[in-house]
Amino acid sequence: MTLKGHVHYVGVNDRVKHRFEGLWFLPQGVSYNSYLIADSEAVALVDTVDAAFFGEYIEKIQAIIGERPIDYLIVNHMEPDHSGSLALIRKYYPGVRLVGNAKTLEMVDGFYGARHEGDLCVGDGDSLSLGHHRLRFYLTPMLHWPETMMTYCETEGILFSGDAFGCFGALNGHIVDTEMDTHDYWPEMERYYAAILGKFGAPVQKGLQKLGSLDLRMICSTHGPVWVNEIGRAIETYRRFSAGETEEGLVICYGSMYGHTQRMAEAVAEGAAEAGMRRIVIHNLSVSQPSYVLLDIFRYSCVAVGGPTYNGGVFPVVEDLLKRLAGRSVAKHKLGVFGGFTWSSQAVKCIERYNEQMKMQLVSPPIEWKQGVGADDLAAARALGRAFKA
Ligand SMILES: Cc1cc2nc3c(=O)[nH]c(=O)nc-3n(C[C@H](O)[C@H](O)[C@H](O)COP(=O)(O)O)c2cc1C
Ligand SMILES: [Fe+2]
Ligand SMILES: [Fe+2]
Repeated sequence: MTLKGHVHYVGVNDRVKHRFEGLWFLPQGVSYNSYLIADSEAVALVDTVDAAFFGEYIEKIQAIIGERPIDYLIVNHMEPDHSGSLALIRKYYPGVRLVGNAKTLEMVDGFYGARHEGDLCVGDGDSLSLGHHRLRFYLTPMLHWPETMMTYCETEGILFSGDAFGCFGALNGHIVDTEMDTHDYWPEMERYYAAILGKFGAPVQKGLQKLGSLDLRMICSTHGPVWVNEIGRAIETYRRFSAGETEEGLVICYGSMYGHTQRMAEAVAEGAAEAGMRRIVIHNLSVSQPSYVLLDIFRYSCVAVGGPTYNGGVFPVVEDLLKRLAGRSVAKHKLGVFGGFTWSSQAVKCIERYNEQMKMQLVSPPIEWKQGVGADDLAAARALGRAFKA
């Protein structure tokens, strides 16, 4: 698939993996995008694919360049969904020179054996000519690994952005946004952001600043569609999420064994509805997939977290969410806390402890009840719901 001139798409679709990174549910699969620039003087491959797909991958490459060797393998990101075929590419093309920054090459040594003498170590702003195409490298650390960089083709205005601006969802025949209905990919870009990049708001903002002056005509990320028409929307999605901008709405996240916490969650929702909150989402954390819960939290301004005390702490599925949130940029959110116990109160304390890292703004004092929930407890939960709208 030719994208523009000598730039080709050689990525693959993974419709088998159940959870990305072993964690994030993949109902529509995922693509590993790789790009081949078959220029007049040199051939460059930009990132590779998961090693499990190498057979299909090398066929796609050879269908374009035949017996011509690959001169450069540009490694924008070392996570093995993209670097996985690096060792095999080196076997097929012994003369290939890796192109990465100092941190990349150090990781190459660790993951795939010592780098080769001809490998190129590039710094921020360095460039490489392939003949017609001139590539420039921009280091974008912690977006989302320390070695992450982006490669910009100045000749065509194409940004090879790595994971940034990528999304879950395999590619179903189409590659470029100009030719397809992109509707289903946008929520998947947001879910990808919340799951994978959610901790790195500040580095994402820095990266966006760095790219701000580039003339972007095409964004080729490592997952999902190639952006041409909708570059602005992709950048805006990253700008909003990395700045912690949310829409007004309440996400109620709870766990419950015997229904008491669940009744309180329902009452929080009723209170918020009564106060005029229009967007209310409830996640039973024993049922909802974590990446969808995180997605809603990144979208909406308010979060209520509730759970029972369990073995001296908070119910495990609730603690799991709190651990995930403690490692993400969510400090602008409003937070409500509710938790019950039967003989020794720990749930509320535990949620509050996690909030020392989450740093959300408490809308009112936590609500706590002992054993069954009574009319007073339910009234307090409704008041908590109303407080989100105040
Ligand atoms: C396995 C298990 C462990 C529990 N551990 C504690 C505890 O450490 N301290 C406590 O006060 N209550 C504990 N409880 C009691 C729960 O807080 C109680 O069952 C409560 O009703 C659960 O809320 P729910 O109805 O929303 O599930 C435990 C219950 C279970 C089933
Ligand atoms: Fe990655
Ligand atoms: Fe990736």
